Amino acid sequence: MKNHSALTAAFEMEGIDPALAVLVPCEKPDLADFQCNGAFLAARDMKTNPRALAQAVVDRMGDDRFSVAGPGYINVKLTLDDLITALFVDENVSAAPKKIYLDFGGPNVAKSMHVGHMRSLFIGDALQRILRAAGHTVVSDIHLGDWGLQMGLLTAALMKTTPESEITLKMLEEAYPAASLRAKEDPEFKKAAQQATRTIQNPMWATEERSFWEAMVRVSVDDIKRQLKRLGIEFTLFHGESTVARLVPGIVKQFVDTLMAVESDGAIVVPSLNEDEPPMILRNSEGGYLYAASDLVTIFERAKDEADEIIYVVDQRQALHFKQLFAFAENIFSAKLVHAGFGTVNGPDGKPLKTRDGGVPKLDDLVHQTYLAAHAKNPESITRSEQVGLACLKFGDLMNPRESSYNFDPDKFTAHEGKTGAYLLYQCVRIKSILRDQPEDDLSFAEVANVGEEERTLVFKMAYGFTQAMERAVTRLSPKEIADYTYDLAQTFSKYYAHNQIAGNRARLALAKGVHDRLVYCLDLLGIQVPDKM
Ligand code: ARG
Repeated sequence: MKNHSALTAAFEMEGIDPALAVLVPCEKPDLADFQCNGAFLAARDMKTNPRALAQAVVDRMGDDRFSVAGPGYINVKLTLDDLITALFVDENVSAAPKKIYLDFGGPNVAKSMHVGHMRSLFIGDALQRILRAAGHTVVSDIHLGDWGLQMGLLTAALMKTTPESEITLKMLEEAYPAASLRAKEDPEFKKAAQQATRTIQNPMWATEERSFWEAMVRVSVDDIKRQLKRLGIEFTLFHGESTVARLVPGIVKQFVDTLMAVESDGAIVVPSLNEDEPPMILRNSEGGYLYAASDLVTIFERAKDEADEIIYVVDQRQALHFKQLFAFAENIFSAKLVHAGFGTVNGPDGKPLKTRDGGVPKLDDLVHQTYLAAHAKNPESITRSEQVGLACLKFGDLMNPRESSYNFDPDKFTAHEGKTGAYLLYQCVRIKSILRDQPEDDLSFAEVANVGEEERTLVFKMAYGFTQAMERAVTRLSPKEIADYTYDLAQTFSKYYAHNQIAGNRARLALAKGVHDRLVYCLDLLGIQVPDKM
């Protein structure tokens, strides 16, 4: 509830700007459901007593659901009938549907996905589900990292000795550190790798290098798709940095011609406006195009496809890259550009998570560790541990503020009590079993209309809580809002159930079913599927 026509009218009659007649959820939910601070705010300008002004508004309304509180707030306590009516109203969350490009995942070719890709995938997938549920058109794009010097290094190291059909991801992963070291010590090899990078970046000619590169991409993409399937994440587009390769040289040249970019020691850069920041490099002095060039040209493609907004779900540590990219692109395109950055996944020492030997943990291993923790707590459900473990890992991530870092703690994530994925799955399964024990085949949600005061809190959270959470999730690009709501609703139900008998009461059963369905829906928005049993 945001506006109330009688409140707006009363504001006008008291000479208060009606735009201030806004209702927000009450900070003290035991006292009231909604509150309006508009009269309090207006009183200062009107040089009058805020409490008296609020009282005048309330008197005009003559509606005993409205009252004055504190220094001049207007509180609203709805009746149970109001709440029940609201249960059946579908408040539309999305104001104007937009076409949104959502760039997330961003795994790199020739490397296994690692901890850094996990948050991008989980947050990005939750956002695509939430934004779609809010009525927007979302085009999700994985934006594979598939065309840097790394590709040239691997090609130079392996092409002559390895048949394409024998390439494996493990081989690529092992070859890369060696090739990168060799390039530092062996100038001939470095040159060969730079040459290979240029050849790969030029899609005009069918070369041996391009064919080898394509084979490396195939092997990597197969592995990425296998993992995405396991994680339950889908993309509209499976494009890469290289998708725009054909367009990059021409567009970069245009920037130089129009003086938006300059040549500097053989490189092409966009000078920084801010002295403390490095320039944005589009092409290095060896003729290889860089990350910023492909990102920039990708914006051209997305803008051509009439994107209203492009959202990048990428590590907060890339903030400078996006700041510079956006500052440049905003001169050219009207699409709104947003970096939805996120914090790091830390180890117990509070520093970015590492493997025992100091390496970067693989995504597969993190999923496996959570699976083992889930399994240890419930050994009978071997088949479900995978699903439960994944749910716990996703929830353990998404319940945190997006910008914050958190500790990877599989044991905590899979705990059956507390704010965890496991707790929520248990609540869903439990409500389902209550309903199964009380089969009311012809039960419809409409029967909720007969609930009583005991159900008030639950009905309120069903009627308004979700809309409020969705609104915040969409504006802040924050799946946490949905995670919080889901946990709050599950807990509220659990407390209610401890004191009230549901069996044999059709209204209560209908409400329980509504709560169950809402929990399942919210978890789905987070990319979490509920098993039949636990
Ligand atoms: N591949 C990059 C990385 O692993 C992330 C790509 C993010 N998306 C983008 N359009 N820059 O760091």
